[in-house]
Amino acid sequence: MPRVLVTDTDMPSFDIEEEVLRPLGVEIRLAPSSDEDTLTREAAGCAAMMVGYAPVPEPVLAAAAAGGCRVVVRYGIGYDNVDIAAAERHGLPVANVPDYCQDEVADHTMAMLLCQARRLLDAADSVRQGGWTIPKGDVPRLAGRHLGLVGLGRIGRRVGLRAIAFGLRVQAYDPVVPSDVAGIASASTLDELLAEADYVSLHLPLNRQTRHLIDRHALRSMRRKPILINTARGGLVDLEAVLEALDDGTLGGVALDVFEDEPLPEDHPIRRHPAALITPHMSYYSNESEPDLIRRTAEEVARGLRGEPVRNPVTSISVATRATPAAAEREG
Ligand SMILES: NC(=O)c1ccc[n+]([C@@H]2O[C@H](COP(=O)([O-])OP(=O)(O)OC[C@H]3O[C@@H](n4cnc5c(N)ncnc54)[C@H](O)[C@@H]3O)[C@@H](O)[C@H]2O)c1
Repeated sequence: MPRVLVTDTDMPSFDIEEEVLRPLGVEIRLAPSSDEDTLTREAAGCAAMMVGYAPVPEPVLAAAAAGGCRVVVRYGIGYDNVDIAAAERHGLPVANVPDYCQDEVADHTMAMLLCQARRLLDAADSVRQGGWTIPKGDVPRLAGRHLGLVGLGRIGRRVGLRAIAFGLRVQAYDPVVPSDVAGIASASTLDELLAEADYVSLHLPLNRQTRHLIDRHALRSMRRKPILINTARGGLVDLEAVLEALDDGTLGGVALDVFEDEPLPEDHPIRRHPAALITPHMSYYSNESEPDLIRRTAEEVARGLRGEPVRNPVTSISVATRATPAAAEREG
């Protein structure tokens, strides 16, 4: 029976994948581990691949393509863990699910901003420990403060609209999409945005150009001791530089949902830093968004298996361009 390989997962079951893909006569197999050698071995001969957070480098894609794989689909929006250039070289379409959790991520971003602005962790800690202390002197009025959005795509604009409702003045830096949203001004450079912001929130993809976008230089441009919020990708931020900026007062605080190294090591100093609010890469999650994501990922795989174009290609190819071994045999 043809196999659909799942590289890694933190989902509770494969019930939805089975429901969508079983009628196509395929079995779903979870890789026993997600290191490169195991994935390369498992990818050989699979009919399709479903990818969680595991890195999928060229050798894995090459083995998949050589064995007749029709499509690779990322469970999620970001696809920085898949070597897209290599997939192109091997004629393997890669797709993502770009539109399943925008409201959840925007809500999580605002929840983090509000939690930090209102110092909820400190206040609630005091109450839990039997105290009754207001963190006085440390709770700014939100209305009129500046929020700088880096990236004004699907999620960035939803955050902007929510922030406007709270009275924040919103500016965005996006080199591709100038703001067309009433109430969101465009910044012409990242430095200009960072210089004016009391809150900086990241909503852009991770790629070679954006890795460590928030580095020591960018942090030095921040003049108003802002709170940095990252619900996009950990690799956008140089975490060592951020820790220094928290300690020397360049940053007023951070709210981080994503990390280069996940799960964040148990002894990482950012976990317990008094100015940090950390969540375990959960912005995407709601009771509704997770099953939505699984179903849309499986449906995209089904399209690939049927030889139809995928709906959301992130490669320039949307249908496998190689003959599968079976097809090659038929064609002699
Ligand atoms: N934490 C989570 O659970 C979670 C869930 C979903 C998405 N995400 C992440 O959120 C991010 C945004 O997702 P989206 O759906 O809004 O994507 P999107 O593609 O709709 O928007 C991204 C925007 O970033 C802009 N951009 C690209 N390079 C830029 C740069 N150098 N500077 C400023 N802007 C730049 C693009 O022009 C685009 O408008 C992605 O990194 C995605 O991986 C995280």
